[in-house]
Amino acid sequence: MLRVPAEAAIVRPAARVSGSVRVPGDKSISHRYALMAALADGSSTIRGYSSGADCAATLKCLDALGVAIRRTPDAGVAIDGRGVRGLAAPATTLDAANSGTTLRLLAGVLAAHPFSTCIGGDTSLERRPMRRVIEPLTLMGARVDSANGRPPLTVHGTSLRGIVHQPAVPSAQVKSAVLLAGLQAEGRTAVIEPAPTRDHTERALEAFGAHVERNGEQVTIQGGQRLRGRDLHVPGDLSGAVFWLVLAAGTSSGEVEITDVGLNPSRTAVLDVIRRAGARVSTTVEREEAGEPIGTVRVAHRELSGFSIEPGEVPALIDEIPALAALGAMMQPGSRMCVRGAAELRVKESDRITALAKGLRALGADVVEFSDGFDVHARPITGGTVDAADDHRLAMAFAIAATAGAAPTVITGAGAVDVSYPGFFGELARLTGSGDPR
Ligand code: S3P
Repeated sequence: MLRVPAEAAIVRPAARVSGSVRVPGDKSISHRYALMAALADGSSTIRGYSSGADCAATLKCLDALGVAIRRTPDAGVAIDGRGVRGLAAPATTLDAANSGTTLRLLAGVLAAHPFSTCIGGDTSLERRPMRRVIEPLTLMGARVDSANGRPPLTVHGTSLRGIVHQPAVPSAQVKSAVLLAGLQAEGRTAVIEPAPTRDHTERALEAFGAHVERNGEQVTIQGGQRLRGRDLHVPGDLSGAVFWLVLAAGTSSGEVEITDVGLNPSRTAVLDVIRRAGARVSTTVEREEAGEPIGTVRVAHRELSGFSIEPGEVPALIDEIPALAALGAMMQPGSRMCVRGAAELRVKESDRITALAKGLRALGADVVEFSDGFDVHARPITGGTVDAADDHRLAMAFAIAATAGAAPTVITGAGAVDVSYPGFFGELARLTGSGDPR
């Protein structure tokens, strides 16, 4: 008998994988649409808004900043904009929960508002580095107090001036925080990235009517522009879809289709890696909404071979590395998957290098850890008990690898999936033809 702790899931070996899936709305895009709708003139409606706890945290913070938000009958969100620099001082500390995007992007927004706001979060968020946003916002004129460079942050907003910022690490959150501050600053603000990162902020600013100049790795915004409220649709989250793509790729005869999913080229590098590992991957872009390409992805199992993720590829697939590590563990025993240049993984929702190594070892794989990456040497997956380390992407990665186990696996802390993918375990049961493990 397996004893199952509360908040745990049991994942049983899967003999078959097939089906079509509509994944929750994209987390990155949902945050941006909500923030920009709040800063816009007029109302916006957002259909397909992410059902995850991270994006709910953004709405709750905006509510505390005086923004009127209603749920629409089709599970969307309607937001009455307050205009650029129009948010109201909150009565209490804001809670970004587990969401780094909420905290960093809101810090950029609030830096331009003439009041002080304290923003905190859960214990995982309190470990995450914030100097990367504090420094540019300070150069723009704001004052930001922190607990030694970590949350909670107190943002003392003011009238900002534009800067040219060259972040030391590629980060879409940092770029976005600075651009959102720049929108509300005097003069021009430019961000020159060390490597390209997801460009949803640039596309969303344009969709809300602002002009953004893009020149290679440089993005520039002129302060003082207004945003116009509008109706939007959030495509499915490719970073959530990837778990099903890996499940199909790693299971004999596996096949899945993901519909209505975001296919922004700054997010699709993971598909090249799954293809490189040997699976058949096809994509069809069907339409574009608010500048975001949307379509269908299909993946079918083929015999897999070892694969590497090079340092230069990492910024474009940083969130997909847990899923790709699961794929590494599901390969033919004796194959190797490796990744380097990924030290940023250590400052995500968990230290994803150490926690992935520990979890995949518990499932039977042989994992060698490096300061900036790891190697997975595939061995037969035994199954076992594995801890999600309070990290939604690790809970999902371990669940996928566990489907290839010889015996059932208990995942403790499996409730973390709700951060980005409520309903994940029900969908896993449907695609594998087994009972819901929660
Ligand atoms: C995100 C950017 C990435 C990513 C995170 C979402 C965003 O973080 O890991 O899940 O929405 O901008 P970094 O900017 O810290 O790389």
